[in-house]
Amino acid sequence: MLRVAVVGATGAVGREIVSAIFELEFPVSDLILASSPRSAGSKVSTPMGEITVTNTEISALEGADVAFLAAGASVSRKLAPELARRGTLVIDNSSAFRMDPEVPLVVPEVNIDAVHEHRGIIANPNCSTIIAVVAVAPIYRRWGLERMIVSTYQAVSGAGHAAIEALADESEAVLAGLDPLPSVLPYKSAEVHHQIAFNVIPHVDSFCEDGYTREEYKMTDEIRKILQDPSLKISATCVRVPVFRSHSESINLQTCQRAPMDEVRAVLASSPGIRLMDDPASFAYPMPIHVSGKDDVEVGRLREDPSAPNAMWLWVVGDQLRKGAASNAVQIGLALYDDRR
Ligand SMILES: NC(=O)c1ccc[n+]([C@@H]2O[C@H](COP(=O)([O-])OP(=O)(O)OC[C@H]3O[C@@H](n4cnc5c(N)ncnc54)[C@H](OP(=O)(O)O)[C@@H]3O)[C@@H](O)[C@H]2O)c1
Repeated sequence: MLRVAVVGATGAVGREIVSAIFELEFPVSDLILASSPRSAGSKVSTPMGEITVTNTEISALEGADVAFLAAGASVSRKLAPELARRGTLVIDNSSAFRMDPEVPLVVPEVNIDAVHEHRGIIANPNCSTIIAVVAVAPIYRRWGLERMIVSTYQAVSGAGHAAIEALADESEAVLAGLDPLPSVLPYKSAEVHHQIAFNVIPHVDSFCEDGYTREEYKMTDEIRKILQDPSLKISATCVRVPVFRSHSESINLQTCQRAPMDEVRAVLASSPGIRLMDDPASFAYPMPIHVSGKDDVEVGRLREDPSAPNAMWLWVVGDQLRKGAASNAVQIGLALYDDRR
């Protein structure tokens, strides 16, 4: 049994990590929950009883076997190396170490063997990356990939607890005939904020000089790292939509070998972490409201794309707080714990 710490335990991801620890039966004997001073002292109800949230200080995390970090990249940059030095295995949800060549970036269904290469820190990929790569990896492995184009439809909870409140408050204001006062999206520290209620914002994370956003780069760089294919041709457009939970992605793939659609369906249906939901005649396709709270990624709207050789479309939806963050992190921990026994 392990002494486990969750840093950022009062946030959108942290709360899900606490749930996933118990639902996925992570072997926990002791649970330390930490946050910023804002929520320190608050109580979180867990199957182990009510736990008082502590302020995030290294002394409060002393002796933890495993620490799940979900408090943002700057907290991770400070905390993770020190925790690792003290013998705590860090599973980090932030972007801080994902592209560090010495830090494995792991999606258990795709590259579980990478966990063995850790030096005390393991990175959980970006939420949109995880959802895409779970669906695309089986096709990539069977037929190879010439090119991948992805457009995301990302839920507000991907931007944390404040963005969930923003969508609720702005929607209430608009429906009451008032002017909403946007202050959270595209991201909290942005110079300009846009309304998300009844709107779509083609801007997730900050812009780079070439016109792509950092979120779009996270997807392309991380998918290449996970598939160990640095020259994979891949391009992304990331969009925030007024959905509370679960990200959707429209993905266009061009395979190296011809991939008959019935074989693609069979491969996806038998791949771990995927639920095929592809029955247009019954109006059955993946949607955020059906996927929320689940760990499987749903794939549907599979069809050939006649505009290019060996091309196809997929519509992929996953709960980015569960599989896109918390469950993926806990699955990584479970893989290592099994390894230790
Ligand atoms: N949301 C997603 O779908 C998602 C998916 C994958 C990865 N991630 C990553 O997960 C991390 C957390 O995101 P989130 O969406 O859960 O954010 P969030 O809802 O804003 O929660 C942030 C958490 O971090 C705590 N925190 C903030 N500043 C801190 C500090 N200086 N020291 C200690 N704790 C601090 C907050 O505590 P208080 O309650 O005291 O403010 C809260 O518990 C981010 O790195 C994000 O990029 C998010």
